[in-house]
Amino acid sequence: MVDIYTQPELYDAIHNKYEWDKNLLISIAKIADGPVLELAAGTGRLTQLIIDLGYEYTGIDTSQEFLSIARKKHNTYDDKVQFLHGDMRDFKLAKKFNFVFIGFNSFLHLLTNEDAMKCLQSVYDHLTKDGIFLLSVFTPDPNVLYRDKNQYFPATGFFQYNGSKCRIMETNHYDQYTQVNRITWRLEQNRKLLREKYNFSMKMYYPHEMDILLGESGLLIKEKIGNYDGSPMNEESGFQIYVCARA
Ligand SMILES: C[S@@+](CC[C@H](N)C(=O)[O-])C[C@H]1O[C@@H](n2cnc3c(N)ncnc32)[C@H](O)[C@@H]1O
Repeated sequence: MVDIYTQPELYDAIHNKYEWDKNLLISIAKIADGPVLELAAGTGRLTQLIIDLGYEYTGIDTSQEFLSIARKKHNTYDDKVQFLHGDMRDFKLAKKFNFVFIGFNSFLHLLTNEDAMKCLQSVYDHLTKDGIFLLSVFTPDPNVLYRDKNQYFPATGFFQYNGSKCRIMETNHYDQYTQVNRITWRLEQNRKLLREKYNFSMKMYYPHEMDILLGESGLLIKEKIGNYDGSPMNEESGFQIYVCARA
């Protein structure tokens, strides 16, 4: 098994055309102002949006492989952009931020409520008095969690990788007690499923649990958004996007 977060080229090939979260991020960043802190920044897929707004940007991630690509893509000689190796559960920076965000489901990599609380408390400590915190994750979907464990399902559309037409096929094993979903990816290249397996895990957080975690960490939910088009969250929403401030 290969940790997917040691494979930045594959990650970027898959997510190259992912645009749907960008407009919402820009609109909230404009309200918040800089400086900006992104937790789980990855290969810097969202970094340029913040740079283009003229804000200082700091990105934190645990993957050295991803950070190295992020630094190559963005001009980190410029004092306004930096990528730091760190863990979103426990980081201490010398400054506070007007905008902190955890995009694209990365919060789901915190596999226990304790880890989630540690992360949210660290966010609280780094937010300015009037700062905004944005957190976006998908809503757990039982139709996906309880699929046949022995079958592979398409997880992405088609993309180009190493000169071939590829897509990701996935299988998963969900533990309803820990609420952790263990996911295995395999690359389908020119319609052939390759042997190599990539893995990662995500904890499923339900909206009522997010209410408790955010509240207990001292953050006040100002808005709940249910989709990247900005529509409000309701019981059918596929996404949970929280706009928070310090209580
Ligand atoms: C789905 S990717 C998102 C990357 C980027 N934000 C994006 O939108 O493309 C999740 C990222 O979370 C990072 N990650 C996982 N656990 C982490 C932790 N405890 N602290 C910081 N980063 C973490 C991974 O290394 C990976 O880069």
